Amino acid sequence: MRAAMLEAEVGDDVLDGDPSVRALEAEAAEWLGKPRALFVPSGTMANQVALGSWTRPGDEIICQRWAHVTTFEGGAAGFLHGLQSMTLGGADGRMDPAEVAEMVRPNFIHCPRTALVCLEQTHNVAGGVVVPMDEFAAVCEVAKERGIPVHLDGARLANAVVASGRAAPIWTSLVDSVSLCLSKGLGAPVGSVVAGDDDFVERAMRVRKRLGGWMRQAGLIAAAARVALSDNVQRLALDHALARNLAERLDALDGLEADPGRVETNIVMVEVSRSGMSAADLSSALGDRGVKVMPIGPQVLRFVTHCDVGQADVDTLVAAATEILAP
Ligand SMILES: Cc1ncc(COP(=O)(O)O)c(C=O)c1O
Repeated sequence: MRAAMLEAEVGDDVLDGDPSVRALEAEAAEWLGKPRALFVPSGTMANQVALGSWTRPGDEIICQRWAHVTTFEGGAAGFLHGLQSMTLGGADGRMDPAEVAEMVRPNFIHCPRTALVCLEQTHNVAGGVVVPMDEFAAVCEVAKERGIPVHLDGARLANAVVASGRAAPIWTSLVDSVSLCLSKGLGAPVGSVVAGDDDFVERAMRVRKRLGGWMRQAGLIAAAARVALSDNVQRLALDHALARNLAERLDALDGLEADPGRVETNIVMVEVSRSGMSAADLSSALGDRGVKVMPIGPQVLRFVTHCDVGQADVDTLVAAATEILAP
């Protein structure tokens, strides 16, 4: 990846184009099964470009209660685009299609316009689960029947592709726009894409410009993102197997509960309440022993495997947790 960056052909993407960025956008569009894709610096910007492209201020979006787009993007939907969120569903990452249908606003002057339905695949807060195809498709169908576009936050769509055995276009053919992170599990240092049809991408280019996300000699980072997409998708299966191994081994320790059966991809949620420690204290004690992990609730730690984590790192984690939890 470093070598590809060093050798990257670059131009000025804001003027007459950067060849490496264009190549990445074409390859990502093809992988995603969409006519066009745009390169942006982050997954948050990819989602926010999509939101800004589909909506007008005062509109409402429907998304899952713990969707990244409404929970972890700093209130950007409201701050940047004047949107409010109707959040549905529970901790499992799913939305009930009947509830989505019920919450689409009537064409009534007192109500906001329901402008967009957002899905997330895999679902982060639900522990990297793959939303099952029948439920995913049913929500898309409800939106389609009502003429409402669907955006897929596919930050980890590649993990869903590998875990489900369904190629990206099988998922994305049901939605109108999709974002994909080339960083995170795919290992690029920076970068995401947002994809859709020509009309969508024309609007998205304006929003990206407004947000300051159109980059000049971006071929240096696009080159890394191209390697991420071409070389690092299939190896995600290794991360998934390692995550399951991590869950099994932590679950075996007194005081920790991880449900290996729920680990479908590269995220492991670990409940720590029986340890007598808070997630924050345990995270800090693990940090002192060289293991970085994020508390995602008062009693829950969220572990993630990726291309820079191997079996030896899991061994280090298990040894550190064993030492901390020793009576
Ligand atoms: C589901 C999901 N979408 C979007 C993002 C945002 O990505 P970034 O951190 O690149 O802005 C994340 C980040 O964790 C995520 O989990």
